[in-house]
Amino acid sequence: MKRVGIIGAMALEVEELKSKMEITRKEERASMEFLEGMLNGTDVVIVQSGIGKVNAALCTQILCDMFDVTHIINTGVAGSLKNEINIGDIVVSTDALHHDVDVRVFGYPLGEVPQMGCLAFPADEKLNALAVECCKEVNKDISVYSGRIVSGDQFISDKQVKDNIISNFDGFCVEMEGASIAHAAYLNHVPFVIIRAISDKADDSAEMDYPTFEKAAAAHSAALVEHMLPMI
Ligand code: ADE
Repeated sequence: MKRVGIIGAMALEVEELKSKMEITRKEERASMEFLEGMLNGTDVVIVQSGIGKVNAALCTQILCDMFDVTHIINTGVAGSLKNEINIGDIVVSTDALHHDVDVRVFGYPLGEVPQMGCLAFPADEKLNALAVECCKEVNKDISVYSGRIVSGDQFISDKQVKDNIISNFDGFCVEMEGASIAHAAYLNHVPFVIIRAISDKADDSAEMDYPTFEKAAAAHSAALVEHMLPMI
């Protein structure tokens, strides 16, 4: 039986989905509230993980251990790493990596967590294709991109830092949870996809743009998640 775990880091990333779901049970673990129920005819568990990689990894592990999810979707906002990807557009992950991991001294490529056997954690190809397809139907006025998402425990708002991330990793957007959700899902053999709408350009304009656009961006991502659920 299909059961989809939906993770958003912040309240505004999951609020709308929560308000639309038919809740059958609430369970608290690690100070996070897991809501079980139905959304758009689909068995779901929706949770706000909190911000950053540790919160997101904990949350993903709990979804796997306690809630037996068969798929994981991460919805939220991100900073764009490509000129053509504009505020409001959507990036669907092909894979995700930690841009703030550095164990080069022992021969690992920048970004690779030692002994994982891969630099980036691959997203589920079917979930990726479905999200891209659904996005074209739901969010007709924006563009959807499929590519690498990079994560770190940093809000990127400096052009130099952004440029370094771009030259080190071929990322489409940057955020603070996706890679750890991907990492935990990978270790648990649970298919996942990360869906992020762009709230800012991750440069010196980010501090101004982010508060202005985060709400609309989060809504784009959540609308897509809701739409794709019955087709998973
Ligand atoms: N989430 C949204 N915008 C971001 C940025 N610029 N850096 C990190 N996480 C983000």
